[in-house]
Amino acid sequence: MRSFLFVPADSEKKLAKGAGAGADALIVDLEDSVALSNKEAARKSAVAYLKTADRTGPKLVLRINALDTPFWEADLEAVVPAKPDMIVVPKTISGACVKKVGDRIDRLGGGDIGIGCVATETAASLFTLGTYAGSHPRLAFLTWGAEDLAAALGARDNKDEQGNYTGPYRLARTLTLLGAVAAGVAPIDGIYKDFRDEAGLEAEARAAIRDGFTGKMAIHPAQVAIINAVFTPGEADLAHARAVIEAFEKAGDVGVVALDGVMLDIPHLKQAKALLSRAAKAN
Ligand code: COA
Ligand code: MG
Repeated sequence: MRSFLFVPADSEKKLAKGAGAGADALIVDLEDSVALSNKEAARKSAVAYLKTADRTGPKLVLRINALDTPFWEADLEAVVPAKPDMIVVPKTISGACVKKVGDRIDRLGGGDIGIGCVATETAASLFTLGTYAGSHPRLAFLTWGAEDLAAALGARDNKDEQGNYTGPYRLARTLTLLGAVAAGVAPIDGIYKDFRDEAGLEAEARAAIRDGFTGKMAIHPAQVAIINAVFTPGEADLAHARAVIEAFEKAGDVGVVALDGVMLDIPHLKQAKALLSRAAKAN
């Protein structure tokens, strides 16, 4: 999945609008976009939405409240019977959090509901990105967040004067990528909060796919088309991948070939095959 659009669960208007935004998944949010006083109402609205939504549209994902709040268990008990495709858990601090939520979903009879984690929102969570591997079979993706991490660190900002993430956030992003790949699940890039800045979003999405992320979070419908376009392999990418595979096939049983003056060895062949297989799955 390329694009995940956050929609506050207590906004009927945004829920209605989100469905038509073209996202691969909607994340109906019970956490940070909902005021404390509205948690109960948001939960009810999320369940009603899940029960009536057109399930042939985007995947429906539910973000519950964090495990250190009094809400998360009631969130799960309410939403699991309404069968979301996935549950997102914010502020996870290790694979143990996935196990806790995964076991609870099992006990609630949650079928094949997957789990995604926002895995970098506290300082402690950066030391444990390697623990997600093998944590629970439901784990489907890891993403990262720079806003809560900045708040946790007491930072004035998470970007420098040029608009680039500073060290702690670049580290969080990198560890999320590594932790997700090590766990065999999808690495999903975090949000781009300046939702009117389309060029900035596109540049950040391009940097993400270059490094290995397979999708990106969105907070506004206008961000979805940009994210989908960047994370859909273009004709030139596909043609290059086919040319790499063909070069190896022509060369016979060898580990290294040359293509247009560039050395290609086995990792490049793997990348080309992975790209074509991802493109085939997306169709
Ligand atoms: N999902 C669905 N619809 C959305 C939306 C979203 N995330 N964000 C905006 N819209 C709708 C608006 O309701 C508006 O609808 P209208 O044309 O019928 O009035 C339209 O898209 C244009 O919105 P716009 O006026 O540009 O933005 P806004 O000021 O209404 O909203 C935000 C800005 C940031 C408050 C809003 O985008 C939002 O709530 N985003 C999600 C926040 C979130 O979930 N955060 C938690 C994860 S980090
Ligand atoms: Mg948050």
